[in-house]
Amino acid sequence: METRSQWGTRAGFILAAIGSAVGLGNIWRFPAVAYENGGGAFFIPYLFALLTAGIPILIMEFTMGHKYRGSGPLTYKKMNKKTEFIGWWAVFVAFIISTYYSVIIAWAISYAIFSVNLSWGSDTEGFLFKDYLNNTVDAGQIGSMVPGVLLPLIAVWAIVLFILYRGVKKGIEIANRIFIPLLAFIFLIIVVRAITLPGALEGLQAFFQPDFSSILSGEVWVAAYGQIFFSLSIAFAIMITYSSYLPEKSDITNNAFITGFGNSSFELLAGIGVFSVLGFMATQSGVAVDEVVSDGVGLAFVVFPAIINEFPGLNGLFGFLFFASLVLAGVTSLLSLTETYVAGLSDKFKISRGKSVLFGGGLAAIVSLLYATQGGLYFLDTVDYFINQFGVALLGLVEVILVAWILRLVKNLRDHADAISDIKLGWWFPLSINVITPVVLGYMLYDLFRLNMMKLFDTPTGNYSGYPDAFILYAGWFVAAGALVIGLLLSIPKWRSVSEASHSSAKKEAK
Ligand code: ALA
Repeated sequence: METRSQWGTRAGFILAAIGSAVGLGNIWRFPAVAYENGGGAFFIPYLFALLTAGIPILIMEFTMGHKYRGSGPLTYKKMNKKTEFIGWWAVFVAFIISTYYSVIIAWAISYAIFSVNLSWGSDTEGFLFKDYLNNTVDAGQIGSMVPGVLLPLIAVWAIVLFILYRGVKKGIEIANRIFIPLLAFIFLIIVVRAITLPGALEGLQAFFQPDFSSILSGEVWVAAYGQIFFSLSIAFAIMITYSSYLPEKSDITNNAFITGFGNSSFELLAGIGVFSVLGFMATQSGVAVDEVVSDGVGLAFVVFPAIINEFPGLNGLFGFLFFASLVLAGVTSLLSLTETYVAGLSDKFKISRGKSVLFGGGLAAIVSLLYATQGGLYFLDTVDYFINQFGVALLGLVEVILVAWILRLVKNLRDHADAISDIKLGWWFPLSINVITPVVLGYMLYDLFRLNMMKLFDTPTGNYSGYPDAFILYAGWFVAAGALVIGLLLSIPKWRSVSEASHSSAKKEAK
């Protein structure tokens, strides 16, 4: 009998999937990645990756979750007993991401408060690194806890774990039904204001100006795939887990298109908003736009506060709205990251949702304290880079090779999706999963490994220039390889009765 927790409505599932996809990756990662990788020309590899990998894998993961009705590990185990460890590996990658993702949300909470009276002052860089993060130790050293980060971090985990404790329908679904429309509303206000600022056009020109020579570079393609995977929350067990809560009668393909295009529209909107204000800033200071562009951390927490200082009126309000949108986008994604291991633990060890939230979420919260120390930023930057390239992207490759080439499940999954969806999957679906994605992604990762190690760290998403090589190698590889090893270890214990496990959590949540 089917007793797994379920979404209350179709809209609830779509909002939760969009809530997972739209996150910090859209607002602080995408604009800088697109700009650094050829501006307008980046959209060619980006669209290619979206259509041949992003959306097909999203459809595939929705179908896997719906068909096998399990968290990542349970779904992989049901596909083939020997592949359970891949599910745990994916779950552990989500675990690692959640530990530092929560910290960036904590910074955004602090900055939403700082924006009320612009307390970052005129030296926004000094304020972030010295006054706020107290980042005065060397890379690899921990230093002491930073209370200004610790307090909002505790708040983030308290909110997220409480929502997850309430369950799929009463917790995750309700939270996304409130947060996502609110986020869309706030973001529209910000973007409309941004594009009407003086200088916005210069910013947009810089953003969209195509540098076609860049699309011949392998690294640009790497960036496009990495962005699509991270942004769509695919390959790290999230979408499998969320779709395992779908009712039997659910439209898979349509839901995947809505989620995929919804996420990319938001990403594009964020790019337009961000580059409009960068254009404004450049015009104010009389410099070219490329002199004010910066990557993730620098963009959101150094350049934005500086721009907000210059805003023509209502600075505090716009600052608050911007950081509030980061918080909303971040929390809805953190919910999904954390749900992967909450679901994995309760499926495998037959423990209640409350216990798996306490153990899984509690452990993530404790690990996240590392990033709330004086040396936390170095760990955060390094782990983020490694876990994305050798966690998320590598998992994406392993997943398609397994499903397409080893288990040969593409036709089976396609039939499953077609039987319940309005849109029927055409030839492009098997072509993408069987051929294009494994070949292109495989080549891309091979190329990454081949690259000189130091060149690797010179990416637009990394700030590695001042870090000692040994630290990057140890911290980075330790985490990336550690995720796989822990995945293998977690797949060793025996399953306690699967149906009972799902039953106890579902029963608790019913009504
Ligand atoms: N998909 C989430 C993001 O873009 C993880 O931030």
